[in-house]
Amino acid sequence: AQTGLADRYREYFDIGVAVSTSDLSEFEKSSIVKKHFNSLTHEFSMKWSQLEVKPGKYEFEMVDQFVAWGHEHGKKLVGHTLVWHKANPDWLFTEDDSNLSRAKLLARLEKHISTVVGRYKGKVYGWDVVNEAFGYDGTFRKSPWLNIIGEDFIERAFEFAHAADPDAKLYYNDYGLVHKSKQDAVVRLIQRLKSKGIPIHAVGIQGHYSLTYPDAKLLDEAISRFASLGVEVMISELDVSVLPFPGPEERGEDAEINNLRAAELDPYSGALPTDIEAQLADRYQELFCVLLAHRASVNRVTFWGISDAESWRNNWPLPERMDHPLLFDRNLKPKLVVERLLH
Ligand code: XIL
Repeated sequence: AQTGLADRYREYFDIGVAVSTSDLSEFEKSSIVKKHFNSLTHEFSMKWSQLEVKPGKYEFEMVDQFVAWGHEHGKKLVGHTLVWHKANPDWLFTEDDSNLSRAKLLARLEKHISTVVGRYKGKVYGWDVVNEAFGYDGTFRKSPWLNIIGEDFIERAFEFAHAADPDAKLYYNDYGLVHKSKQDAVVRLIQRLKSKGIPIHAVGIQGHYSLTYPDAKLLDEAISRFASLGVEVMISELDVSVLPFPGPEERGEDAEINNLRAAELDPYSGALPTDIEAQLADRYQELFCVLLAHRASVNRVTFWGISDAESWRNNWPLPERMDHPLLFDRNLKPKLVVERLLH
């Protein structure tokens, strides 16, 4: 068989992809995964809301299958994610009719992390321990974690994860890390964890980008800055939207923009025009050029999905658009970008 992407970049960094368990049982998709990727992240099923629907009732079937498949095919597995403000079960932050105390929520967090990380000890290579804890202005994101536990929920989560699997790599993962204030906040977090002897091995820069956002130079600077702190860097959720990309100021943090406006911003709802496909390939090459320049610090580049059909970008930052952000089109045909990145 022809060389895949993971082989092409083997000397430099891992090439990963986000999948669902069902992707792995579909012939064409699983063939693509086997050929091109040596690292896998589960796109959805390892989030708390999916694992522990009712208190104490864990449903591990999807993740067990994913882990077994990954092992059988020699892939490095990333656990995503232990602490997030989204995708939590409804019961998590409540207790009867009274307020949940800090001590009780910490105990739930510890139990969850020891249960999940413990179950996959030695099988999951690294964990996105905490996901998206800061706002663009660099303050802690308002969430039940912050409100009920306080700022040290992050430190505790890393300690719990380390206790559950001392050999696992531990990551802080977020988007918008090219923005100065948010980047500063993550720099301070890494310094704080390190000064307290709490293990953190890498920063995941999500990488939900567009043809123009962000300027490659900003990515270059962000990687240099994180690497200088003695952590590794990965691009953990890469996808490049080809649609008009309203920035955070314009869309607001919660992307509440009406569908009429979304339709105006959805120009390629048929096949992707060849000139745009070429721009997408150029853009991925530009990003890879930055990543290769930092190959000593970048340890993994993970694409957030196999094909455009399932990409979450069809619904973000605006709902119900037809986007074309990934390496494979809606018929699982490799786009021009694949040939370019293999070259
Ligand atoms: C998204 C998945 O892609 C969707 O399928 C799911 O419905 C919601 O979550 N940042 C993250 C990811 O860290 O977990 C998100 O994934 C995308 C944004």
